[in-house]
This record gives sequence, structure tokens and C-alpha cells, in this order.
Amino acid sequence: MRYTLSFMLLLLLLGCQETQEEDTAEDSPTDGAPPIVRPAPNPGDSTPPVEGVKGLLKIGVLGDLNGSLGDPNYASSVTSGMGHILNSGYDLILGTGDFTSGEDYKKRFPASRFDQMWTSFEQKILNPILNSGIPFAPSPGNHDANIERERGYYKTFWSPRIPGVTMISSEAYPFYYSFLYKNVFFISMDDVRTYSLRDRSVNGVTQRDWIANQLKTPQARGAVARIAFGHVPMYPVLSKSKHSSSGRGKYYEIMANEQQGKRTNSLEQIFKEGDISLAIFGHSHAYYPGVVHHNNEALEDSLNVLSMPCLGHGNRYLDQRTRSRSPRGYGQVEIDLDTGKVSFDAYLTNGQKVDKTGLPERIRPYSHLSIRRHDIVQKELGLQ
Ligand SMILES: [Fe+2]
Repeated sequence: MRYTLSFMLLLLLLGCQETQEEDTAEDSPTDGAPPIVRPAPNPGDSTPPVEGVKGLLKIGVLGDLNGSLGDPNYASSVTSGMGHILNSGYDLILGTGDFTSGEDYKKRFPASRFDQMWTSFEQKILNPILNSGIPFAPSPGNHDANIERERGYYKTFWSPRIPGVTMISSEAYPFYYSFLYKNVFFISMDDVRTYSLRDRSVNGVTQRDWIANQLKTPQARGAVARIAFGHVPMYPVLSKSKHSSSGRGKYYEIMANEQQGKRTNSLEQIFKEGDISLAIFGHSHAYYPGVVHHNNEALEDSLNVLSMPCLGHGNRYLDQRTRSRSPRGYGQVEIDLDTGKVSFDAYLTNGQKVDKTGLPERIRPYSHLSIRRHDIVQKELGLQ
């Protein structure tokens, strides 16, 4: 009897070891393998997605933590914001990039400085989140992964730190990837530049086509909602007079070529055809919960966009008519898992909710469209 038990125990242990080795092989982000579906390897979500998951999914969103070039420290607004983020009961936290203060074109800093910045991020931001049992899904910013050398540091840091979610396509992780969490489909984009969707890391197709393909997968089609998040936005929300001069400046730091009408398969068009519930962007450092409404387009066909406030330095002026800078803070997205209804807000670094009624009813960057305030559009559609 004792031998039988020992033999069974040995078999069990061998079985476990084999599974672990398989899991490790699948974790490789650059193995060129077809899209994989696997349960979460990290703390957080240890259960595979279940059809018909019910309740409210509460997601925190943070980004633009960077300070002056090469500074491994964070502003006090980041520290206070993090305290509230950790106490908000989030199921998942998304990062919209600029976690570090890189983009060192002149190579002023050695590799060790980037090590310092990523260690600081890990200690002050990532570990407190993971230690609270919350999965964190990053998307790169220009201060993390624009310059080639810094893309290497980004990859080194994130490759072993795979988010505790159910990966769907991880071949281009950590730069772009898709995943499921509680039956919501997520796409993390690599849009650190104004023209960066040309990467062909996955099966030789551009990132743009990869996004289109992801949105056609059974996992995306079967999900209750679909969220895309990245760094550089498609549309300007900033004050043109305050943030541009002679055709240059932050106002123009957008993926203009991905706007609907600029090309046949623009990202905006792909998002709409793939029924994206919300697209979240950082980089502008100005909060606006919007709906991109093209003239003569049905409101219900328009794309929902969340322009994120920055958590760190450098909050900017939203739109031409605002007299003060957009407050620093973080985003919150709530998804009703019964209906797929998505709502989104921002909170100040003291944990107070930003009153949307104080924001402009619309921003009109071009004559052919306006970015309308989401809550007003919801009311017009009879959804609020
Ligand atoms: Fe940025």
C-alpha cells in the first residue's frame, strides 16, 4: 500500500513538473507561436474566464507618471494618487504608459539610470498593486519605449512580469498584446509614436491588422465588452493656442493617420467595425471623457474615447476655452458584466471624483467632427 501511494505521489509530481515546463515555454513573448489561450500565471485572476460572469468590473487606469528626464523619483501627486488607487477596490489596473522618465535622445544617462527608474517603478507602483492582488496590464509610453535602446530596457523589465490575466495573443508582448479578463476583451497597443502601428512582430502583419484580427477572434466576439488602451491618442483634445506653435507642439502629437477617412483601414474604422466599447489614451495630460462624433454620423456609431489625466508632472490645458490646467489624477472604468455597459470617470489625486459638468460639452478640433462629452451623448441616446 505504502509503495502504491509513493508511486502515485511520484506520478503526480512528474505530472506537475511537466505542466510547469509547458507553461514556461508558452510564456515566451517572442517564440513566434500562434495566439495562445492559457490561464493566468500571476497573482490576481487565477480563474479562467467564465461565460456569463456577472456583476460590475471595476478598473483603475493610470499613466503619465514621468518627471524630468532621467529622474527615478515620482511627484507627490503620484504617491497620493497611488494611495487612493490601491484603496478603490479595483479588479484590474491598466497602465497607459510613461511609467519612467526616459526618451534620452542625447544619451545623457547610462543603462544603470534606466535600471534605477524601472526599479523605482517596481517598488513604488507595480509591487504595491500586485501585492494587493490586483493584476496590472501595461502599455508603453514614449518615455518608456520610443528610442530603440529604451525599448530594450522596456522588454527586459516586462518580459518576466506577465500580467495575471488570460492572454489571447502574446507574441508581441510586452509591446502589444490582447487578453481576456472576466469576459471583457482588452487590447494593449504599442502607440508610442505618432505613426507606430506598422510593427510586424505577429505573423508578418502590421499592428493595425493584428488589432483588426484580434477583434474578429471568438474571444473578442464573445466578450461582453471590448476595451483598447494605449498612449498617443488619435485626436487632439488640448488647447491649440497653449500647446502648439508654428504647426508643432503637444497639440499635434496624435496618430493623425489613424483617424477615420485618412486611410481605408484606419484604426478608428477598425475599432468601430470591431465594436470597441472604449478606447483609452494617455500622453495628452488632460482628462476628457468623449465620443468622437463625425458630422452626419449616427451618434450610436461613434467611438467612445477616454483622454487620461496625468498622475505625474505636466498637466495641460484642455481645449481652447478652458482657463485652468486639467487636474492631475487617474481614470476609472466600470463595466456592467450583465449588459456590457461601460462608464468612465477620472479622480483627482486626493481621491475626489472629477465633476464632468465642469468640462466643455464638446471639443471641436476640426470642422468635420466634434468630440462630445460622453455623459451628454448617453443622455441623448436615452442610455442614462
Ligand atoms: Fe507621453
